[in-house]
Amino acid sequence: MATIPAVKQFSDRMGRIEVSATMAVVAEAAKLKAAGADMVEVGAGEPHFPTPQHIKDAAIDAIQKNFTKYTPVPGILELRAAIAKRHGADFGSDYKPEETVVSTGGKLSLFNAIQVLVDHGDEVILPVPYWVSFKDIIEYAGGKCVYVRTSEADGFRLTSDMIERQITSRTRAIVINSPNNPSGAVISPEDHTAILKLAHKRGIYVIADECYVYLNFSGHDFSAGSVTEAREHIVVVGSLSKTYSMTGWRLGYTLAPLPVSNAIAKLQSQNTSSTAHMIQKAAVAAVTGPQECVAQMKAEYIQLRDQILGELAKIPDITCVRPEGAFYVYPNVSAYIGRAGIKSAADIAHRLLHEAHVVTVPGEAFGTMEHIRLSYATSPGEIKRGLERMREWFAKLG
Ligand SMILES: Cc1ncc(COP(=O)(O)O)c(C=O)c1O
Repeated sequence: MATIPAVKQFSDRMGRIEVSATMAVVAEAAKLKAAGADMVEVGAGEPHFPTPQHIKDAAIDAIQKNFTKYTPVPGILELRAAIAKRHGADFGSDYKPEETVVSTGGKLSLFNAIQVLVDHGDEVILPVPYWVSFKDIIEYAGGKCVYVRTSEADGFRLTSDMIERQITSRTRAIVINSPNNPSGAVISPEDHTAILKLAHKRGIYVIADECYVYLNFSGHDFSAGSVTEAREHIVVVGSLSKTYSMTGWRLGYTLAPLPVSNAIAKLQSQNTSSTAHMIQKAAVAAVTGPQECVAQMKAEYIQLRDQILGELAKIPDITCVRPEGAFYVYPNVSAYIGRAGIKSAADIAHRLLHEAHVVTVPGEAFGTMEHIRLSYATSPGEIKRGLERMREWFAKLG
């Protein structure tokens, strides 16, 4: 009998990526919950607020009016123009509607941008800690991540000197993320501008993930898009997910020079075609409608941040940088590694999940070995409950 030759099942590129660690934690927590466990969810990066009513109404209205068909690949012009205008008004950028491409979530916008710009063997500078998906998306494209370690003692601050030291002839892009997931660090306007100008001078693209740009508590609102003299090498990735509490709607966008935007649209014409029509209509309502909801949510996040920092301070031997944006804290739990058989931050997150039923994400997913990430996008009651459980659990480790 002829033997069937062994064939590999999956493409090489699939071997370069892992399931998103945050998605994996959410799935594991869901299993425990389904089995009856009373979980405290401080793991997932998801606003706890409902989507504002006027946005929901706009989507319902759009369905009733039959906005249910294919749209142009980069999005309906009304939305592209509205996003460009909102960004210009809020950050002083000068993007045109044609330089705005709407995608099915900021993650796809980022994925498209990296696929379009990064080739096999290209180096992409990635500051650490990084959002879990950056690494895998870069590697999926065949790029090589070149890490820039920020210092916890310096509040995870990123400077242009740190970036400059890592630039080589193969550097194709720099990925920055301010406010940062997981650390909450915000790049100062001065450092930000210096990084953008440096990259522009060297012909290197900066992919600026600004999904949390409206959750900047530093008092210095800033978008890379405002540095118009470097615009030729800037791709701003934006999202409605966190700004308007619309994670499940899946609406993100890129703002980029026309050739890059056209390339992103070309790629998108071969993957999703476009975001759903009614979602785009709802997005128009979000970005052109009243913005008080954004300010209200931000004010609440600041209170929640202060609360969670207060609760963390009650746990002996845990230190935490005060985040200046987003909705995460990134406490250093290294003092507990080596106690009670604990070998890593991953062990801590795993045991917190299974023994205390508190959902956190281990720092290994973000490129550091001594931290866990907690999200404070939840109610004050949940924060209290979760952090009390954590305090009791850590106390047992001695
Ligand atoms: C830094 C960062 N970028 C992008 C995203 C993707 O957001 P979305 O795809 O929901 O727009 C997230 C979501 O958690 C994020 O934290």
